[in-house]
Amino acid sequence: MVRILFVCLGNICRSPMAEAVFKEQMKEAGLANKVLIDSAGTAGWHEGSSPHEGTLKKLEEVNIPADYLTARQLRKEDAIQYDFIIVMDESNATDVQHLFSKAEGAPEIYRMMDFVEKPPEKNVPDPFFTGDFDYTYTLISQASQALQNYLIQNNYL
Ligand code: 4NP
Repeated sequence: MVRILFVCLGNICRSPMAEAVFKEQMKEAGLANKVLIDSAGTAGWHEGSSPHEGTLKKLEEVNIPADYLTARQLRKEDAIQYDFIIVMDESNATDVQHLFSKAEGAPEIYRMMDFVEKPPEKNVPDPFFTGDFDYTYTLISQASQALQNYLIQNNYL
């Protein structure tokens, strides 16, 4: 069982989108029972909220279930409960490193776009500010597939 946590700032736009998309891709590949997938935000402003309507609209458009998604803040304990912490941008990476700095056995922090060969972006742009949920979905979907390939190639799955 490989445990993966997607992390962004608010846990209402990008990381819940990544959680839903990756879960769906794993389900389609018949690998759902080999992974534990969740998402969290470095900030707690939206704790308990459903995803942003832009994320919900996009996921509905591509027929990916999203009704179970609820925002939560990243916790120190996540450092030991997950094998992969996958952040959306550089600033998330800095915030996670700060929170985990004293945690024993903290896992390596990966950036979502790092799994993509020749990525068009290093960071997943935040649609909370850009308003472009389509572009964010395109990047997340591409990176999610690349993550699945990475896990298979490196014998995690
Ligand atoms: P996310 O986007 O990190 O992709 O969920 C944001 C959501 C909310 C806020 C900022 C970014 N906010 O300032 O409330």
